Amino acid sequence: MERIGVGVVGAGSIGIRAALAHLSLDDVQDRVHLAAVCDAVPGRAAAAADRFSVDSGYDSLDELLADPKVDLVTLGTPIGLHFEQGIAAIRAGKHVHFNKTMSVTAAEATQLIDEAKAHGVKINASPGQMVQPQNQAIRKLIQNGDLGKLAWAVVGAGFGNYHENEGVRGGNDLLSNVNPSWYWKKPGGGPLYDMTVYGLHTLTGILGPAKRVTAMSGISIPTREFRGEPFQTEADDNSFLLLDFGDSVFAFVYGAAHGRVEPGWGQPNFYGSRGTLEGTKLNGEPLQFPGHDDGLAAYSRGRHIHGAHLAMEETHVYEDIMQLIDLVQTGTPLYGTAEHARHVIEIFESGYRAAETGQAQTLTTTFEAVD
Ligand SMILES: NC(=O)c1ccc[n+]([C@@H]2O[C@H](COP(=O)([O-])OP(=O)(O)OC[C@H]3O[C@@H](n4cnc5c(N)ncnc54)[C@H](O)[C@@H]3O)[C@@H](O)[C@H]2O)c1
Repeated sequence: MERIGVGVVGAGSIGIRAALAHLSLDDVQDRVHLAAVCDAVPGRAAAAADRFSVDSGYDSLDELLADPKVDLVTLGTPIGLHFEQGIAAIRAGKHVHFNKTMSVTAAEATQLIDEAKAHGVKINASPGQMVQPQNQAIRKLIQNGDLGKLAWAVVGAGFGNYHENEGVRGGNDLLSNVNPSWYWKKPGGGPLYDMTVYGLHTLTGILGPAKRVTAMSGISIPTREFRGEPFQTEADDNSFLLLDFGDSVFAFVYGAAHGRVEPGWGQPNFYGSRGTLEGTKLNGEPLQFPGHDDGLAAYSRGRHIHGAHLAMEETHVYEDIMQLIDLVQTGTPLYGTAEHARHVIEIFESGYRAAETGQAQTLTTTFEAVD
């Protein structure tokens, strides 16, 4: 098996805590090597290359894409850049993993999918929620009718002050002074594209594609602050969607400025005529599923999360990168396909349009849910 040269684009929070931290461990070196890292802040990539023993550190994506040692890139840049950087990487013949939402519109996602096929490269986008055993178990349970006739579901996340307080933001060197203000700017900012993306991948992975969406959305906190510097919130930070899955099954999906319906984040609650599933509790009792009792947090599980990885941050992102590496090296199918990611993007894009126009939007994309 040929080792894959990975290029890490963006040495910010996820570039450092997921790609560089996990892919520099000994246990994956037979399959991958860190070929290059790049970042637009001068010197940040060189500092990251030094800390994680990466072959090359560049100040631009163009230099990284011109490096023949890079076979696959993982994009850890702001969401608004993913489309143009993804297209550039695909055209350079690189496989691409997107750290969460791979574009802002469904049309852009379609172009990424089409160009990847045309250039013979593979792409995937985090979060690959359905790789987690509890989500596969929940899909089967609902298909088997264990909840009776499903009536509704709820899932979402609150932005809170999570990104302002991440460990890479409070220091004074190039690897710890990373400014997160893009999370509140257009295009690509707001809690839907960054956080609700977990729960909506899980919800649609379990129920399959949705049919329609309507929504309300706005800015709750117009001025924010990072390290004493005020900045304006330009992307909606408080968005509430209502989805129609057909057969009178509806779901409430939110990306709020603060707060959540427990457990929220990546695990929906489902309510049916014969039972309730809240997170991983079936009628109040822990759900039984293969591997549920092995002492690991269900959220952290995936095919590659063993040994030293278990105690680290952002294991799910590492898992998603390895899923793409599995596909490239062994042809193992993905749980989180680009088509699934596109459907989630279309729901967000259509949700914003519904909020602006007051009109429910019919969804046009679809995907094959993985069993
Ligand atoms: N922070 C998290 O907890 C987290 C977790 C999972 C996934 N993600 C996702 O990862 C992606 C990145 O988020 P983050 O929190 O790491 O952002 P970040 O702001 O911490 O880091 C982004 C990095 O990209 C660099 N960058 C900006 N423009 C660039 C360009 N043109 N070329 C190269 N580098 C450029 C910035 O200088 C910065 O170092 C987002 O899509 C986010 O949704 C973040």
